[in-house]
Amino acid sequence: MGKSHRNFILRIRRSPLFWFVTVCFFCTTMIFLMNVYVFSNPANATVKRDVQPFAGGLFKGAASLKMKFKHPVIADLNINKKEAKPAKTNRRLVLQKRMARLVSKLRVWHPNITKVMELQYQIDKYLNGTEFISSQENTPLGSLYNDTFFNKSIVVDDAKRRLLPERSPFASNKRYKTCAVVGNGGILRNSSCGPEIDEYDFVLRSNMQPLEGFEADAGSKVNFTTVSQSLMTTYRLLENEKFVLNFTNLNITKFITALEKYGSSYLLWIPNSKVSNLAFEILQLVQETTKSKVMLFNSKHSQLIQQYLNLTQRSISTGMTLTSIAISLCDEIHLYGFWPFTFNYKGTNLPMHYTENLLWSTYKKYHDFPSEFVQLIKLHYKGVLRLHVEECYDDDGNNDGYVGNNDKKASNSNTMTVQQG
Ligand SMILES: *[C@@H]1O[C@H](CO)[C@@H](O)[C@H](O)[C@H]1NC(C)=O
Ligand SMILES: *[C@@H]1O[C@H](CO)[C@@H](O)[C@H](O)[C@H]1NC(C)=O
Ligand SMILES: *[C@@H]1O[C@H](CO)[C@@H](O)[C@H](O)[C@H]1NC(C)=O
Ligand SMILES: *[C@@H]1O[C@H](CO)[C@@H](O)[C@H](O)[C@H]1NC(C)=O
Ligand SMILES: *[C@@H]1O[C@H](CO)[C@@H](O)[C@H](O)[C@H]1NC(C)=O
Ligand SMILES: *[C@@H]1O[C@H](CO)[C@@H](O)[C@H](O)[C@H]1NC(C)=O
Ligand SMILES: *[C@@H]1O[C@H](CO)[C@@H](O)[C@H](O)[C@H]1NC(C)=O
Ligand SMILES: *[C@@H]1O[C@H](CO)[C@@H](O)[C@H](O)[C@H]1NC(C)=O
Ligand SMILES: *[C@@H]1O[C@H](CO)[C@@H](O)[C@H](O)[C@H]1NC(C)=O
Repeated sequence: MGKSHRNFILRIRRSPLFWFVTVCFFCTTMIFLMNVYVFSNPANATVKRDVQPFAGGLFKGAASLKMKFKHPVIADLNINKKEAKPAKTNRRLVLQKRMARLVSKLRVWHPNITKVMELQYQIDKYLNGTEFISSQENTPLGSLYNDTFFNKSIVVDDAKRRLLPERSPFASNKRYKTCAVVGNGGILRNSSCGPEIDEYDFVLRSNMQPLEGFEADAGSKVNFTTVSQSLMTTYRLLENEKFVLNFTNLNITKFITALEKYGSSYLLWIPNSKVSNLAFEILQLVQETTKSKVMLFNSKHSQLIQQYLNLTQRSISTGMTLTSIAISLCDEIHLYGFWPFTFNYKGTNLPMHYTENLLWSTYKKYHDFPSEFVQLIKLHYKGVLRLHVEECYDDDGNNDGYVGNNDKKASNSNTMTVQQG
């Protein structure tokens, strides 16, 4: 009896059907268990993890966590969306408290010019003589002018090369005593920082933001601004065309009019579009029609700076590019409008940009703002630059026009796709 039983088992083991059934059973069980695991996990598990780096010793882990977990800015948004649940509101309050702690830490700042010089030397060495603009000096005839992110190269012929300056206007160790870099962050809204910004010797601005109507918060002085090709959608003729591929869909009048507000300041063109590279057409247009000192950004420089800052995952933002340029041009650097969160430490919801009511939910994750912000905080503590993340008070300690309630006006109506920087 025992023997025949053993034989039966042996026979069954040899049968393919046995193995088929066993494997099927195993797989089904695994799928079932995985389902149980996934659905029993609270939906906000990732959010919780995301919020952690912000808590942990000032964004400490943010840079390393970005690969695995959802974008912390987006995590904030999830919190915003589900505010009805008390747990989420608590999380927002916790985050707000951490922000308050950060803001109060950032109030302390000891400039260290030695450190600025040291960093500048390090960056220069890392860049290996790569300048941030393309000039005749660094662009031989027949070389390729590349896009900063995509493979949209242009062969530089003689006519194109002649549009470039002979050498960089910043090559001769030109340095400015005090500089302000004005980012586009919604944190500038109602800040009353305009007069303070206008006091710096050299003011760098991002992406040709409108100046009129924002003087009180962002000032009016401008000495340097970037404009990127992805932003040309703002100057489209036909709204139904998605991109500006060439001048047939560009409202040249609108573009030139906007540029004229920038007087004779430096204009840095950043080619960052996967559909076309209008660099030299724009260079010629601007040179012929405005007083702007227009220059082309050197993509090699962009790559190296991004590498230097360990920002490998997403493309470097314009704000960070401007900061690196300021480090090489200025003794004392002040940053305004840098804050990658959807609300401030007082709990006021912020739009993505101070100039428009775009919501953060329209943000298309082109940049790694949290990692960049971590870098900026480190530089603040080292005395290399000063991050201004609060409203600017006047002499009596008041500030005019700051209202700390939620900005209900921010609407989703303007959902233009902006690759913003
Ligand atoms: C300024 O930076 C230099 C160079 O890194 C450093 O040696 C010095 O201690 C710093 N000064 C202060 C006051 O922190
Ligand atoms: C730095 O530049 C020198 C000369 O221009 C070149 O020989 C060298 O390969 C460059 N190094 C790097 C790391 O790009
Ligand atoms: C750009 O071209 C290089 C080689 O020509 C290729 O290795 C790389 O993947 C391309 N990048 C993109 C974004 O297409
Ligand atoms: C910066 O621009 C302002 C005008 O907005 C001008 O008065 C000032 O001289 C410029 N500063 C430098 C250093 O070029
Ligand atoms: C210019 O772009 C338009 C689309 O906006 C396209 O139809 C046209 O063929 C382009 N012209 C040239 C010369 O590339
Ligand atoms: C171009 O822009 C200007 C200024 O915004 C506007 O007045 C004009 O109607 C636009 N032209 C066309 C053809 O859309
Ligand atoms: C542009 O890209 C090509 C191919 O990817 C590369 O060989 C060349 O060195 C690049 N030029 C510059 C100036 O970066
Ligand atoms: C980038 O990473 C390297 C290696 O981990 C590190 O030595 C360096 O300090 C980092 N650079 C910055 C700017 O944080
Ligand atoms: C800015 O001030 C206006 C008017 O006082 C107010 O309605 C709005 O909520 C404020 N926005 C922010 C982001 O503080």
